Amino acid sequence: MKFFIDTANLAQIKEANELGVLDGVTTNPTLMAKEGIKGRDAVMQHYIDICNIVSGDVSAEVIATDFKGIVAEGEELAKLHKQIVVKVPMIKDGVKAIHYFTSKGIRTNCTLVFSPGQALLAAKAGATYVSPFIGRLDDVSTDGLQLIAEIREIYDNYNFKTQILAASIRHAMHIINCAKLGADVATCPLSAITDLLKHPLTDIGLEKFLADAKKFA
Ligand code: G3P
Repeated sequence: MKFFIDTANLAQIKEANELGVLDGVTTNPTLMAKEGIKGRDAVMQHYIDICNIVSGDVSAEVIATDFKGIVAEGEELAKLHKQIVVKVPMIKDGVKAIHYFTSKGIRTNCTLVFSPGQALLAAKAGATYVSPFIGRLDDVSTDGLQLIAEIREIYDNYNFKTQILAASIRHAMHIINCAKLGADVATCPLSAITDLLKHPLTDIGLEKFLADAKKFA
């Protein structure tokens, strides 16, 4: 299972990367705005800065919602760096654009996916990744993990190569359950990744080992 970090914060990306378990980064307009980045040049430079920290894929989202606009923006983003994956929303023109990008060898991440039908369309269009938002489904009393299981079943039935990128992950249990269900990637806040480290018996055990080590030091 690949671990991506879901942030545009360079310090957090560096911290996750230094842990040695990071395979990539996902961003979205909300996460970019949170970093206070303003203007096209600054946004483009920020994507390059992210690519220079990690060695894996970096999703950069288009803002346009019409086919021509998505294509123009996506081609510009893809030219920035070989690690860039163009993130495209699950809308009609988005699906058309994913099909176009696929034919041109440009990798894509189909975002804002909330149903198995949307995931099927993304795979048919040739998306590299599909991003089901599990936390946002949980927020509206719908089982986000169930969607991961359904997409896994559908993709396995037809051997679709599109990778399931579980997104909108809120905590460590989401990561563990996505791993059990066979999601290819989990994109997570840094806290969800570092929470995987925690167990009180580890802390208690280490404290005892260190205390006993003093007896023969
Ligand atoms: O990047 C897409 C997704 O992970 C957003 O998560 O927490 O805003 O629902 P969230």
